[in-house]
Amino acid sequence: MKDIFIVSGGARLSGTVSVDGAKNSVLKLMAAALLAEGTTTLTNCPEILDVPLMKKVLEGLGCTVEISGDRVDITTPATLASNADFDAVRQFRASVCVLGPLTARCGHAKVALPGGDAIGSRPLDMHQSGLEKMGARTRIEHGAVVAEADGLTGAHIHLDFPSVGATENILTAAVLAQGTTVLDNAAREPEIVDLCEMLVSMGAKISGAGSSTITIEGVDCLQPTQHKVIGDRIVAGTWAYAAAMTRGDITVTGIAPRHLHLPLEKLKSAGATVESYENGFRVRMDGRPRAVNFQTLPFPGFPTDLQPMAIGLSAVAEGTTMITENVFESRFRFVDEMMRLGADCTVDGHHVVIRGQEQLSSTHVWSSDIRAGAGLVLAAFCADETSTIHDVYHIDRGYPKFVENLRALGAEVHRSQEESLY
Ligand code: UD1
Repeated sequence: MKDIFIVSGGARLSGTVSVDGAKNSVLKLMAAALLAEGTTTLTNCPEILDVPLMKKVLEGLGCTVEISGDRVDITTPATLASNADFDAVRQFRASVCVLGPLTARCGHAKVALPGGDAIGSRPLDMHQSGLEKMGARTRIEHGAVVAEADGLTGAHIHLDFPSVGATENILTAAVLAQGTTVLDNAAREPEIVDLCEMLVSMGAKISGAGSSTITIEGVDCLQPTQHKVIGDRIVAGTWAYAAAMTRGDITVTGIAPRHLHLPLEKLKSAGATVESYENGFRVRMDGRPRAVNFQTLPFPGFPTDLQPMAIGLSAVAEGTTMITENVFESRFRFVDEMMRLGADCTVDGHHVVIRGQEQLSSTHVWSSDIRAGAGLVLAAFCADETSTIHDVYHIDRGYPKFVENLRALGAEVHRSQEESLY
């Protein structure tokens, strides 16, 4: 039986919500714990499905992992298994981040590839060519990526695109390589900076994190550490767009507002009042939002993970919006579900034109990925009656206590099970 969310339209969300650690950071930090023998402790970890999944991946490699509330303790043995070709790995994309640490520590890694993704093809060519520049041999074989190396050496690597995942795998391999690696056109996302800070606290020598050029001087070994995961800017951004779409008033804590600079600026242009604090922000929208154009880009551009929220906002804004998706080729696939809710959208390649409606129209819709699912829930709040969101297991992968938080903000929403409907 699959879970569903039943969402009543017409909500005006208001109140305070705190965000937990970032999904896109914690999974990489857990993988980075493979780099040092001993116990590494992470705090501020979110309670989402991907964390126990990553625990299974690390346990399959020989680690002991304990999750207790927001704390995860990972004990890494002296000798790791290097074959991550098992079911837990195939279940989520982020498991590929064990590739760099395993290649560095074991000189061999076999990591199962995840199945097709609803947001477009996600090749690993830049991960592979980065490792190859450092002396590894890589290939895709029987549904897994394989890397082999008789010791890695520092190299000058230039990424064609600032890929988050490739930057992470290159970083976590280069920290134990012999000599210096210079990574050009590196990803600049806050989660990369978080990873670098943890690696430095383990004894790595890294400079330039957060800029396009990262320099890594390899060291012989790293030590386990304790690290607090940064707040989830995508969850925080989801609350910000929820406030604007429902003409509400939400204060979000647990997040550095500079990590959401552009998404919050866009909300100001749409007519919201935004106040930033050291550890959070407040978004208030008094009237109907105005249409503003968006284009997704790597950080510090508008995040592709907030594109569904931008579509939701545009669907109820006054005027016509153009949204351009520059990061994932098929990220507009879920727009059909937005249209089912009455959004007036025309998709043309990587552009979508949206003519804003005063109100959307309630119905059944299906989530296809984490962010599309959250965007659909927000859109359902702008519909006339009760909507049903199906396949919400996607949302559970990225939004801790989503329904509970929404209810605390005044929404009428509850979790139920698909079978009870029919
Ligand atoms: C990460 C995030 C995801 C976010 C994305 C972009 C995690 C678990 N996921 O995904 O939520 O939407 O960053 O901010 O952190 N590409 C290649 N070859 C490669 C690698 C990537 O062509 O070797 C392409 C991808 O297909 C995509 C683009 O580069 O079109 C960006 O991908 P990337 O930045 O690597 O995203 P992920 O790390 O997969």
